[in-house]
Amino acid sequence: PDSRSDAVVLFGVSGDLAYKKLLPALYNLERAGRLDGPVIGLARSAWDDERLRARAEGAVRDAATQVDEAALARLLGRLRMLAGEYTETATYEALAAMLADTARPLFHLAVPPVVFESVVAGLNAVGLADRGRVVVEKPFGRDAASAAELNTALTRYVDEQNIFRIDHYLGKESVEGLLVFRFANTLFEPLWNRHYVKSVQVTLAESLDTEGRAGFYDGVGAVRDVVQNHLLQIVALLGMEPPIADDADAYRDEEVRLLRQVRPIDPDDTVMGQYEGYGEEDGVAPGSITETFMATTLWIDSFRWAGVPFHVRAGKALAGAATEAVVELRRPPRLLFASKSAERPEANRLHFRLGHDDGVSVTLQAKAPGAKAVSQPVALGVDFDRALGHRQEAYERLLDDAMDGRKHRFARPDTIAEEWRIVDGLLAAGKEPELYRRGTWGPAAAAKVADPWHPVTTKAPRA
Ligand code: BG6
Repeated sequence: PDSRSDAVVLFGVSGDLAYKKLLPALYNLERAGRLDGPVIGLARSAWDDERLRARAEGAVRDAATQVDEAALARLLGRLRMLAGEYTETATYEALAAMLADTARPLFHLAVPPVVFESVVAGLNAVGLADRGRVVVEKPFGRDAASAAELNTALTRYVDEQNIFRIDHYLGKESVEGLLVFRFANTLFEPLWNRHYVKSVQVTLAESLDTEGRAGFYDGVGAVRDVVQNHLLQIVALLGMEPPIADDADAYRDEEVRLLRQVRPIDPDDTVMGQYEGYGEEDGVAPGSITETFMATTLWIDSFRWAGVPFHVRAGKALAGAATEAVVELRRPPRLLFASKSAERPEANRLHFRLGHDDGVSVTLQAKAPGAKAVSQPVALGVDFDRALGHRQEAYERLLDDAMDGRKHRFARPDTIAEEWRIVDGLLAAGKEPELYRRGTWGPAAAAKVADPWHPVTTKAPRA
């Protein structure tokens, strides 16, 4: 069997992702006794070991409510800084020297895609590409063509089995749980098709804005940032057929089959938005038409889903923070009972909460108390935190997987290619976004994409 990684190298360690996700994830792995060997931070910033350790300590204390001081000290003890240019041979020579005693280092690339190739070429030049594992962060390209080029460049130096393309939504327990919910219960799967499902809605809403990252975001936009990857992955998991076996390719085969049946997004059915004030943020190009919001309807031309609209929306600076999927069932054929509040009872709906406060609930109709036989909606629900206890964060699971060479939860190049095929035409159309006020649900026109958008649960994240 292939051995576990005995070193971790974080390219881009001075960035936002390392602070918010990677360093806290490494701390959790340290606590669980899952780290071995050095952890090397690499960046162009002229940092030394002390600076990196201070940064890591800050990241851990910000992320954890109760810090295990011994584990934190062990992690800090592993950290080494290497400051250097990604394009210079000297950087990789120094890195090779630091990794001399390791057999299977993990390289995590949280760097702009334009330097991916320099990094893998640099690793290759010093003999590290053959024995390492390479984790690649999104954005994986800007469109189908650049993603294909990027793939060619990566695979020139690194074996496909050693490449791990992150879509951190695949690492979320709640997102993976969609498959368990569907295929480990008999209750819903018989209804999971066009005969019983009227529509599906997926919302990926953030109340935060670009948080000072507009310089990066302006070249990306909502479609590339979260729709092409996270949102389409959720749709794939909601819609796909059961995998034929419990291995990495069986899962990804079904995902890609579902995505292949999704029609390219029609720009005319899509609303793009930009929150007011975005244009004045630092790093935003004058007259930028980068979208911070999008809403559209996806159509899946399969036997299971033909004719069922999948309404999706994503955006920043919205009225609430929520990642949710809502599956709305068809109503009974004969509406015998009036509802307390309207002529007809509402349809049954399944709400999957996939972000903070994850869980699932079903809206059912119950008899309203009183003499009349009228219905009233009630909810049957479970809060996963309460029911299941502590679950690991996505990045902790994904780094742990990659260190073991497990690929179930990583995106495959054919999946990524299909995702780009779905959004490419929309991106090429260069649609002007409509302005929306911060703290709303996007431009008014979004209401025409789904009528109505079902309310999402917008509880504040637990401290
Ligand atoms: C990232 C995007 O991939 O996902 C961010 O680049 C976004 O812009 C984030 O905020 C959302 O992830 P999560 O796990 O907080 O839902």
